[in-house]
Amino acid sequence: MTEEILKRRTFAIVSHPDAGKTTITEKFLWYGKVIREAGHVRAKANKKFTTSDWMKIEQQRGISVSSSVLSFPYHGCQINLVDTPGHQDFSEDTYRALTAVDSVLILIDAAKGVEPQTIKLMEVCTMRKTPVTVFMNKMDRDSLDPVALMDEVERILGLKCSPMTLPIGSGKMFQGVYSFIDDSVHFFNPESTEAEMRKVDGTNDPRLDEWFNAKYLAEFREQADLVRGAMEPFNLEKYLAGDLSPVYFGSAINNFGVAHLLDNFVANAPSPMPREAEQRMVAATEPNFTGFVFKIQANTDPKHRDRIAFVRVCSGKFVRGAKVIHCRTGRQVRLAAPSTFMAQEKTVVDEAYAGDIIGIHDPGLYNISDTISEVENLKFVGIPDFAPEHFSRVYLEDPLRSKQLSQGLKQLSEEGATQLFAPVNSPIPVLGVVGVLQFDVIKFRLEEEYNARCRLEAAPIFVARWVEGEPEAVQEFRSQNSHDLALDKRGNLVYLCPNEFRMTTMEKNFPKITFAKFHTELK
Ligand code: G4P
Repeated sequence: MTEEILKRRTFAIVSHPDAGKTTITEKFLWYGKVIREAGHVRAKANKKFTTSDWMKIEQQRGISVSSSVLSFPYHGCQINLVDTPGHQDFSEDTYRALTAVDSVLILIDAAKGVEPQTIKLMEVCTMRKTPVTVFMNKMDRDSLDPVALMDEVERILGLKCSPMTLPIGSGKMFQGVYSFIDDSVHFFNPESTEAEMRKVDGTNDPRLDEWFNAKYLAEFREQADLVRGAMEPFNLEKYLAGDLSPVYFGSAINNFGVAHLLDNFVANAPSPMPREAEQRMVAATEPNFTGFVFKIQANTDPKHRDRIAFVRVCSGKFVRGAKVIHCRTGRQVRLAAPSTFMAQEKTVVDEAYAGDIIGIHDPGLYNISDTISEVENLKFVGIPDFAPEHFSRVYLEDPLRSKQLSQGLKQLSEEGATQLFAPVNSPIPVLGVVGVLQFDVIKFRLEEEYNARCRLEAAPIFVARWVEGEPEAVQEFRSQNSHDLALDKRGNLVYLCPNEFRMTTMEKNFPKITFAKFHTELK
């Protein structure tokens, strides 16, 4: 069992739309021998209609990839690539996926540098000290200076960079990369998917002058000197502690630098990490099965409220049909037909190990962040609520359906589709989401599934912040700001701040209060 667990590599790709996530995922699948050709999925035409990046692959390749995880073997490891819904689907699920992985790969468009969506997602990684690897993509296009790119990653994302490779030229003059891992050069050839590699004797090896354009080689040497002086060499321990990020350069569409990245990623990325429970730390290799729910997906059939709860296995081995404790309620449940997603199709799983993701049938029992455990009553810490960015007030169209509305809102918030706030001074509930399209989904589902037709009106709220601090300070804040306060679904106090100026003022006037962007039930 330990061997199975240690070979798991569970990670997610974080990127801004169009940075090349679909393209690189497809290359990974090709290396994992899940698909046969390394051709490129052409997505433009139907981009509007796709709801998940992986659906593009699914539709055009005719293979079935689940919307939550892709698993494939590679170099003796079992890779679990967890989806982070992006684009139109961007929602709290995107954040939550990051709590179910052990490491993260960030993809950056080298022509554009760091973009806003990546910044938000990185906050979750920083909070959890997740080891992060960076891939600078699209080097075949005119790119920003590599040192400037890494500087941006350091400044904006707060990641300390350690270049594993450095490019020689970019755009039309992209000639290849130099690898500091083993002092070798990899030649870029857009006509070939196999990069030629030659070992060299350091960056000043005179043979480089024969092979590369003098201008770009001189630039590269200058950058290499700069990097050596200013950046740390790769250190596995620091990487695993989330303190140092290896950086690679390449071009996903040309399959250049992808194998290099994958090989080194698999060698360095952590196997399933220990998880903190309220009671104690739980090591992945412990024999007893434990896991937590990080995502709940409503069934596509609106007539049934059945859902799938996605569980990250945290320790031990799970065996089909096993009885486990649903720790929040203390109930014993049998996991009769859990499914897993072995790239080709959704299959019923007979066993799963720490690091794996399984989908279990949810008759309405599970909430986000629920723990299930074979023998011991545990509560895993660490699936926070993330401060929403868009807010709406909910007005019921038919006053007789208020019971259905509150039931619908309660369930949708438990499922994590929205955050629900009950204003202290008003009976009209406020919904908060991180991706604005979630409102359409919620309105539709309230009507279809709960027969509660309602109107959502944008609420003039700038940000939501959890109010934490000494009781006296909180009480004082509360008495002065009750019109902007609400309770979340667990009864925690939340400040729904109307504008930026007010937020700054409050932070200044109430120094003893923490206005938190994330809220975890247990600290
Ligand atoms: P996403 O999932 O992160 O949104 O990105 P996706 O892989 O769909 O890639 C976005 C666009 O960037 C695609 O072009 C893709 O071909 C292109 N791309 C990905 N990697 C590279 C690269 O290394 N170099 C270059 N030059 N382009 C790259 P598109 O025009 O949207 O689609 P298509 O017409 O190529 O299908």
